[in-house]
Amino acid sequence: MSKAMDDFRLKLGGREYVPIIVGGMGVDISTAELALEAARLGGIGHISDAMVPTVSDRRFNTKFVQEKQKKYKYNIGNTDKSAVKFDLERLAEAQRLFVSRTMESKKGDGAIFINCMEKLTMNSPRDTLQARLLAAMDSGIEGITLSAGLHLGSMELMKDHPRFHDVLIGIIVSSARALRPFLKRAAKYKRLPDYITVEGPLAGGHLGFGADDWQEYDLKTIVNDVLVFLKENELNIPVVPAGGVFTGTDAVEFLESGSSAVQVYGYS
Ligand SMILES: Cc1cc2nc3c(=O)[nH]c(=O)nc-3n(C[C@H](O)[C@H](O)[C@H](O)COP(=O)(O)O)c2cc1C
Repeated sequence: MSKAMDDFRLKLGGREYVPIIVGGMGVDISTAELALEAARLGGIGHISDAMVPTVSDRRFNTKFVQEKQKKYKYNIGNTDKSAVKFDLERLAEAQRLFVSRTMESKKGDGAIFINCMEKLTMNSPRDTLQARLLAAMDSGIEGITLSAGLHLGSMELMKDHPRFHDVLIGIIVSSARALRPFLKRAAKYKRLPDYITVEGPLAGGHLGFGADDWQEYDLKTIVNDVLVFLKENELNIPVVPAGGVFTGTDAVEFLESGSSAVQVYGYS
């Protein structure tokens, strides 16, 4: 008899999950409610911290954006935006509010992860990334998926946090080639990623693919390259394909050929 998704489990950090991950989509497209539902059903759901001050204002009536606009009103007509800085403490506050409120509502055996877009801000990209990563860990997030613009030094930014070895950390890549430099840097901190999401050309969001690349690259080939790379390097890290996994049959094919879960888009 052919297999179904429920015949498989994703093993991460000593726990087992339904092998379906709802991917992170910025600015609350993958809402907290959607992530909570995925977790309630035993899978993994992502919230996303892209524009988290805006998300917090919408959800919790905070005034992070208004305050910032007031502060930099004098500079609105100026094309040079170098004076516009993120207030790291306010950014961390927004992140803590969003993550802790989400975690408080969690039910079920699944998990809530956060998609952390790495190259987001105009100024101080490293500091703002660090503020968001640490605040998410402070607030009990169970996993962090490092996405768009993967920062080779991310592990270093988190290394002094007490939860550095307990929070699950994953990375998103679109080729096996992108893996080597990240793993090399991460090995310095004895902290390899817990999972690797492979986004192919059909995944939405910020990818390194052009509009027509779906004709040239396909997810199965890229996932296979990543699996081979990991095997050659004797690394046992779960691999999660994303982008164009539309049916249970598609998903089972990936799970039968060595992947540990699939990541899909969803909306609520
Ligand atoms: C509208 C939209 C926004 C997305 N935003 C992000 C994002 O902010 N960060 C990210 O890593 N992936 C993002 N993604 C990719 C998804 O998390 C997921 O990997 C992908 O959609 C799965 O492929 P599918 O759409 O074929 O199911 C986005 C996808 C869509 C459709």
